[in-house]
Amino acid sequence: MTTRSARSRIWHATGWPGVIEAYRPYLPVSPKTPIITLLEGNTPLVFSRAASSRLGRSAEVYLKYEGLNPTGSFKDRGMTLAISKAVEAKSVAVLCASTGNTSASASAYAARAGLRSIVLIPAGAIALGKLSQALIHGAKVIAVEANFDACLALVKSLAQRHPITLVNSINPYRIEGQKTCAFEICDVLGRAPDFHATPVGNAGNITAQWKGYREYHRLRKISQLPVLLGFQAEGAAPLVKGRIVARPKTIATAIRIGNPASWQGAISARDESHGLIDAVSDREILEAYRLLAMEDGVFVEPASAASVAGLLKLARSGHFKRVRTPGRRPLKIVCIVTGHGLKDPERAIKSIRLAKPLPPSLSAISKAAGLG
Ligand code: F0G
Repeated sequence: MTTRSARSRIWHATGWPGVIEAYRPYLPVSPKTPIITLLEGNTPLVFSRAASSRLGRSAEVYLKYEGLNPTGSFKDRGMTLAISKAVEAKSVAVLCASTGNTSASASAYAARAGLRSIVLIPAGAIALGKLSQALIHGAKVIAVEANFDACLALVKSLAQRHPITLVNSINPYRIEGQKTCAFEICDVLGRAPDFHATPVGNAGNITAQWKGYREYHRLRKISQLPVLLGFQAEGAAPLVKGRIVARPKTIATAIRIGNPASWQGAISARDESHGLIDAVSDREILEAYRLLAMEDGVFVEPASAASVAGLLKLARSGHFKRVRTPGRRPLKIVCIVTGHGLKDPERAIKSIRLAKPLPPSLSAISKAAGLG
């Protein structure tokens, strides 16, 4: 916690002040709110040659590289606000259920604020990097023999019985913070993209992004709204199927969710933006995952690649050929890539075979390296 003048000295030294200070007028904070920040946000929009060249028409596809947030995922945008408000409300502990990234972010921001954190995770179903984050930040990590949806139901009951703050995205401050992703995209592009593609799990993020665009539109900071494209994994696609999936299955563990908390928010975002929510197979997700790493040099976690996988699936069906733009300018498309690839190193190693170690022999190594 820092005083206002100390804070302004710190901004001076660091440049970007974090999402709360950058977007203070749009967020529910007052001068009395203690700002808990790790200087999250301001993530780059990286041009994707790999995706742009596969759209089947002139298009510029950008990756909003959310893995470059302090704990490696977009969750930090919402967590800075949720934890700041928890401190303002004199809470002493925070609680969440998580497929990994929420717990990593909650435990880091709680550590910074001096709050206790308790996280419930589905046993054996979160990526190693995320587990290591929650542990090292000092969270009480409780692995539960159940899936994420059951963990979420448990934390909701716990939060009703005990004076602790729930920091899942049903906490409205999480959504408020996460809407800044849309603000940044518009500020950098000077307009909203034509299409905005995003992975969908518990559906807080698509809800938040749409809220951000709508607010910028209402304030006339943008003149047009984007079309939202949400993508779930085929085995965990309740919004596509229109019913709860009791046993969600996908290699993209971050979005292995069968009963999203922000169900209605996602449906409104889809319908109000004249967009769609579709499913992508694990194979399509892994293809996009490798493509981004191999051709764009951008390493994301599998769930994050769902946005690009979905975009390429629509492109193959000719979806974008029919879209007209004024003066035939290229379509502008943003894909949110939500988390860093280093969160799940095991998946990367599983997808690419590592050859057996060799003796330190120049000829054997030259041969193995394909150098003749
Ligand atoms: N991508 C990643 C990397 C995620 O970790 C999540 C959600 C999503 C996409 C989907 O976002 O839930 O707002 O629709 N992860 C949560 C967690 C559920 O516990 O870390 P959403």
